[in-house]
Amino acid sequence: MTKDEAEKRIAKLREVIDHHRYLYHVLDKPEMSDAALDSLKHELKALEDRYPDLITPDSPTQRVGGGALKEFKKIEHRTPMLSLEDVFSPEEVEEWRERIGKVRSAAADAELFAEFKFDGLAMSLVYEDGVLERASTRGDGTIGEDVTQNIKTIEAVPLRLDIHGHVPAAARKTLEKRIKKGTLEVRGEVIITKKEFNAQNRAQKKSGKQIYANPRNLAAGSIRQLDPAVTRSRRLDFHAYALADDVGQKRHSEEHDIVKALGFKTDPREKIVKSTGELIHFRDSIAAEREKLEFEVDGIVATVNDNAVFRGLGIIGKAPRGAIAFKFAPREATTVVEGIAVQVGRTGAITPVAKLRPVEIGGVSISRATLHNEDEIRRLDVRVGDTVIVGRAGDVIPDIKSVVRELRPRGAKEFRMPRHCPVCKAALVPDGKILRCKNAKCPARHRETLYHFVSKAAFDIDGLGPKIIDALLDNGLIQDAADIFDLKEGDIAPLERFGEKSARNLVEAIHERRLIGLAKFLLGLGILHVGEETAGDLADHFGSLEAVKRASVETLEAVPNIGGIVAKSIHEWFGVARNQEFLRKLLRHVTITNPARKKKGKFTGKTFVLTGGLETMSREEAKARIREAGGRTSESVSNTTAYVVAGSEPGSKYEKAKKLGIPVVDEKQFLKLL
Ligand code: IVH
Repeated sequence: MTKDEAEKRIAKLREVIDHHRYLYHVLDKPEMSDAALDSLKHELKALEDRYPDLITPDSPTQRVGGGALKEFKKIEHRTPMLSLEDVFSPEEVEEWRERIGKVRSAAADAELFAEFKFDGLAMSLVYEDGVLERASTRGDGTIGEDVTQNIKTIEAVPLRLDIHGHVPAAARKTLEKRIKKGTLEVRGEVIITKKEFNAQNRAQKKSGKQIYANPRNLAAGSIRQLDPAVTRSRRLDFHAYALADDVGQKRHSEEHDIVKALGFKTDPREKIVKSTGELIHFRDSIAAEREKLEFEVDGIVATVNDNAVFRGLGIIGKAPRGAIAFKFAPREATTVVEGIAVQVGRTGAITPVAKLRPVEIGGVSISRATLHNEDEIRRLDVRVGDTVIVGRAGDVIPDIKSVVRELRPRGAKEFRMPRHCPVCKAALVPDGKILRCKNAKCPARHRETLYHFVSKAAFDIDGLGPKIIDALLDNGLIQDAADIFDLKEGDIAPLERFGEKSARNLVEAIHERRLIGLAKFLLGLGILHVGEETAGDLADHFGSLEAVKRASVETLEAVPNIGGIVAKSIHEWFGVARNQEFLRKLLRHVTITNPARKKKGKFTGKTFVLTGGLETMSREEAKARIREAGGRTSESVSNTTAYVVAGSEPGSKYEKAKKLGIPVVDEKQFLKLL
């Protein structure tokens, strides 16, 4: 990008960010997620870092926090309400540790206090002579809004301080004195539980009122009500995270003990950690449980536990050097569509794919996202050059959620699907929402068929992936899948990245698959509409390849779970002369064994949906074990789902299961079921 281009992009980004900040912070009506807005700010910051002379004082990167609303009285904070520096990766945490170690050697391996970073609204509570006197929002950090009346509706906020529990000895006397006479300020976060959030939104919807985008927004909107009765009806909650006065506490953990003794809730999982490693582990374990927590948490806060060392580290900008917000990997980000390519799949389906400027989401870099079909492109109205919001569907598959229209470059043209196959040039045929290349000899389809043949769910040839298939095809070593079984060490060894040993290993891996189960064999053929489940059903029902081959459309349709379209597709496949020839050739190398899967097991008649990562086994293994026990697996949750197995960081399937009231089990419970 030239400096001129950067300057234009910077101007546009500032305008868009400002607009969305206004929608978010002033009107409480966001149209873009935090993560996406952060991502735009990140891009702006990166451009400004590259061209520092383009930084202006009014750039969104140059300020923190929003101003006070007009309706509420302004309150100047006794000490500024600071913000925290965000970090996202373990490397950044290590860097922070190193940095603070250089400023104060005592900080280098000092213990840390770790606690939730609540995703709500920061609040200062000032108690005079033990009585709640003023509650104010953070505002711009110096001046906030007086929301005392509204805060008084929150049951979790004590209106009068009392010592209920254990207080560090060094602080006890001063604390008692200050409760009787003097000022004490507690800071924390106003939040709303997910359950309340959903209930409130349902009610809002019913009465035709505004829906809140997320719990934080609802909490903020509720605090800024001019009528406290409305605030009360929102059932807000409060967690304290700091005592802003010195009563003799020596450590941040003692501060927590004090506020707890004063009758506040704090993070139930808070703990002292001794090392960076332990901190990272803590953050990962919270991330894994994130979906199951009662309220939204967007990371953890780590603070140097020793208050003297913490103070000695000072403040940089508007954030204390001695604390960080270690955020969870964002679930979405913005990036730019650099091109739209069309791909030809194994079944001839033509899929448009967006090529993206690489961006990190949920800890992995993403550079392409499927656009599914023409309808989807129209729905999103996505064009080359567009800035888009990208997420990961079910926390796995990259997914373009929407286009940031305001950032569209001038003259960006609508995308049109081609009329001919980009590889073999055959005319494309519409099939429902998709276009298909019907040319069975299309080289692109053929290549995909081979990828599919060797894939995990089918022949599962260890070490033989798409790259090697490409090399074998391009060097003329194979024409079809049957040829794979003819490969010799000497054919493979000369290929790039191969040697004698790896060639021998591959030949052995191929050899091992000469004996194969019927279901995997059928799946490997790549028949349109025959996925893992259908292949399993066919194997169970017919028991041999011969029987499947001979079956009429009617016989096929009589198999449970197989409908008309699928039956027809199977029947047609076996009728094609080329396919019959291929089968004969393949069966010269391959022998079909263990024809059927177990018919009756404890999971018979039950469908499982897997979401999130499992610890003790891979997804493929989990599916195989479900099938062994007679069960089925599916990719989507519906009323017929028996169980959803939720691993770490489960995605939208988890939410859907909750909504439909489908039982959700974790890995331990799943193993028990097995
Ligand atoms: S300490 C020294 N602890 O995060 C900075 N903040 O950018 C004072 N937050 O608006 C914050 N949970 O409202 C701290 N356990 C926690 C927190 C927390 C959420 C919010 C806070 C502030 C923002 C910091």
